[in-house]
Amino acid sequence: MSQTSRYVPSVVDQAEYRNALGSFATGVTVVTTKAAGAPVGTTVSAFSALSLTPPLVLVALALKSETLAHIKRAGFFSVNILSAGQDDIATCFSKANGSAKFEGISHRDGQNGAPLIDGVAAAIECDLEDSLAGGDHEILVGLVRAASVDPNPVPLVYYRSAFAELTVGGLEVR
Ligand SMILES: Cc1cc2nc3c(=O)[nH]c(=O)nc-3n(C[C@H](O)[C@H](O)[C@H](O)COP(=O)(O)O)c2cc1C
Repeated sequence: MSQTSRYVPSVVDQAEYRNALGSFATGVTVVTTKAAGAPVGTTVSAFSALSLTPPLVLVALALKSETLAHIKRAGFFSVNILSAGQDDIATCFSKANGSAKFEGISHRDGQNGAPLIDGVAAAIECDLEDSLAGGDHEILVGLVRAASVDPNPVPLVYYRSAFAELTVGGLEVR
């Protein structure tokens, strides 16, 4: 049985569905891990807090994502929460480019071995705790082992297919 066939067919209009999802303003993350010792990662907006005790977070990755396969092999990942001005990094990690995505990106290994990108608003390091089917995506649950926060971050925001940043007066689309 394929991952999607267990669901009852839906008649929702695909374009309107995508537009509705895009109307949910999110932060932007780069989820990283290692593949045969090399840094790999992908841009992810489908990130959420899940539990405080135990500390759990989740990300949803497309079944076709190479990073998904790498995380399942490695058993660990980190969530880099991007700050304003890092939209070029978000764009870079949304390409299908393997380890080449890290060329020119300043980073270091975190405690779990997954890459932490310099200048992010916050970073969350996880062991892979569980993975759950979710249609054409897979939900990865991470048990948080370490977290770090920039004291003065302005977060990067994604809204209706555009990067934005929070300003004092509200949302400023760039
Ligand atoms: C702003 C933004 C948010 C994205 N969010 C997700 C996401 O939540 N889950 C996902 O699987 N792909 C997401 N993508 C698409 C992936 O980054 C893209 O498919 C990437 O090429 C996958 O790389 P990989 O195959 O090396 O893992 C997003 C892309 C952008 C630009």
